[in-house]
Amino acid sequence: MNIKDIAKLCGVSPSTVSKILHNKDSDISVETRKKVLEIIKEYQYVPYSKVINSAAPKTNMIGVLASENDYEVQQFLYAIEEAAARKGYSVILCNAKGEKEKIDKYCRVLENKGVDGIISVCQKEELPEGLKAAQVRILDEKKENQKSGGADIYFELQEAGYMAANYLLEKGHRKIACLLRKEDANIEEGFLLAYKERFISPEKEWIFFGNDEDIVNIGIAKCLNQDVTAVICSDLEIGNILYGKLRERGDTIPNKISVISVRDHAMAEKVYPQMTAVHIPAREIGEAAVDALVEIVEGRKPAYECRKKIELGINERGSVMKPANHDQGRKIVVVGSMNMDCMINVSHIPTGGETVRSGNIVSLPGGKGANQAVGAGRLEGLVYMIGRLGNDSDGKVIYNSLVSSGVHTDGVVFDENVLTGKAYINVAPDGESTIVIYGGANEKLDRSQVKQFEQLLDEAAYCLLTLEIAEETVEYTIQKCKKKNVEVILKPSSVEKMKESLFENIDYFIPNEKEVKQLIPGDTSIEEKAEILLSKGVKNVIITLGHKGCYLKNARYEKYFPAADFYPLDTTGAADAFISAFAVALSEGNDILYAVGFASYAAGVSITRQGVQPAMVDRKGLALYQEEINGFA
Ligand code: RIB
Repeated sequence: MNIKDIAKLCGVSPSTVSKILHNKDSDISVETRKKVLEIIKEYQYVPYSKVINSAAPKTNMIGVLASENDYEVQQFLYAIEEAAARKGYSVILCNAKGEKEKIDKYCRVLENKGVDGIISVCQKEELPEGLKAAQVRILDEKKENQKSGGADIYFELQEAGYMAANYLLEKGHRKIACLLRKEDANIEEGFLLAYKERFISPEKEWIFFGNDEDIVNIGIAKCLNQDVTAVICSDLEIGNILYGKLRERGDTIPNKISVISVRDHAMAEKVYPQMTAVHIPAREIGEAAVDALVEIVEGRKPAYECRKKIELGINERGSVMKPANHDQGRKIVVVGSMNMDCMINVSHIPTGGETVRSGNIVSLPGGKGANQAVGAGRLEGLVYMIGRLGNDSDGKVIYNSLVSSGVHTDGVVFDENVLTGKAYINVAPDGESTIVIYGGANEKLDRSQVKQFEQLLDEAAYCLLTLEIAEETVEYTIQKCKKKNVEVILKPSSVEKMKESLFENIDYFIPNEKEVKQLIPGDTSIEEKAEILLSKGVKNVIITLGHKGCYLKNARYEKYFPAADFYPLDTTGAADAFISAFAVALSEGNDILYAVGFASYAAGVSITRQGVQPAMVDRKGLALYQEEINGFA
């Protein structure tokens, strides 16, 4: 088959086919070009010139033209070098700095050295025409085919800007600033597109272009004065400068301002909080460029078949959360304990005087209060934590877990003088556990801290409390809740007695079987104990019964619910998962029966995983059981 045959099949002249093959097709209509390329592909036609070129490579050398010494380009270069080495090619690197003159000169130099192909990395300028070596361009935007007939591997920076903006818009942010490098107009385009799709427009003042100095001296202040709730940065360097400025202003990230970087960087995991970023897969891009070049050089594919678009993603870390004013009326405040859990797997729970061995010990963030906050955050509840940590590494791990689960941490205090609370948890093979607690910083969560953050209770719908903190603090918080019309959900634990006056202000009382027996001792049934609690003023009693489900009693219902059917690995956090999901379901306006079903499935999923916070299910995970939840009650 030759060029004339292709022309005949397409109903065009041979010169038209030739022009398309050599990318000299600016005067040819898009439809004709498309048709010709389709026929070429269908018949797998390889032009004669390529057949001649398909002899074995001459030198096994690849020339690479790079420009800026930025982090992203470096990642492409590492990937190119590694991929080339795997395929038996070595690399000559030329720093063309994006200048046309240098690009032309280096291309000549590389050809003289006899390279088999040239990869140009993020160069805005075209490669010179008439190069004999095969060519591949790595581009950060989609461009017309190369005049010189090479292949393109490209991602779209515009898409990265769109993804960053869309991610924030989906979380509920509407006032989003951009701190961009001068050359990043593509990011702005994507940003504007994400707004346009929602039929809203950002203010001009929210977008700032400049170099590092402009951004530090003018950009940040300009954007932040606009009362934005989130900022998109061109890269981690700018993000880091912003982190510093926000800290100086006393603005917490992401509670006050969410931050996302358009380009990712290894350092994004080393900053605090870890920075969420659009993921541009450098390794994949570098490898794709080498693959394409080698295919062309070794005559297996013509260049026009090697063009490839690389898809981007988001690396979710801890610097983005919903804006504080989102979804008013859904607010849940947790006032409670935070511990580092030392989970000890044992063959059985030891009894008095007994020693057992453990083959597996692991430390994980926990504490009933923090667990409930994390559980509610994972389920996309609007949740705030008031609690106390030691200023130590355990405290930081727990704080990170809260932030990365979407919990607002304005009310969390790091105490310089005490250690973070700890829990030593024995877990038996049937998933049952026992816990010993060292209160640490939790003991210092007192009424003055609740008073300090009491504005967090304003407009809250629910407050979650446990008795792992001082009863006096609980009592004070309940009083505040009553004044502010906030419904109280309380789980008793580690207490044998509760102050009588507390009961009348509890809207939802959620003990387990053991706890209710401790609080209401005597030879009465579960139903009778629940009745006694109602007579003390509690509005709704839900007694959790482990694998037997739970029992609800209030003025309207008296009902047993089965447990959601899951195989238990670790039941330690089941009640926390239950309570957090219950609160989220209520906060979304659901009735109590639906909320019990939602909570039962959240608890069910949690017992199939080890630990407490890592075991909490997220919204997508729970959505898998939506049908069962709907039919639960
Ligand atoms: O409910 C489980 C929790 O109880 C554990 O995370 C532990 O820290 C204790 O607070």
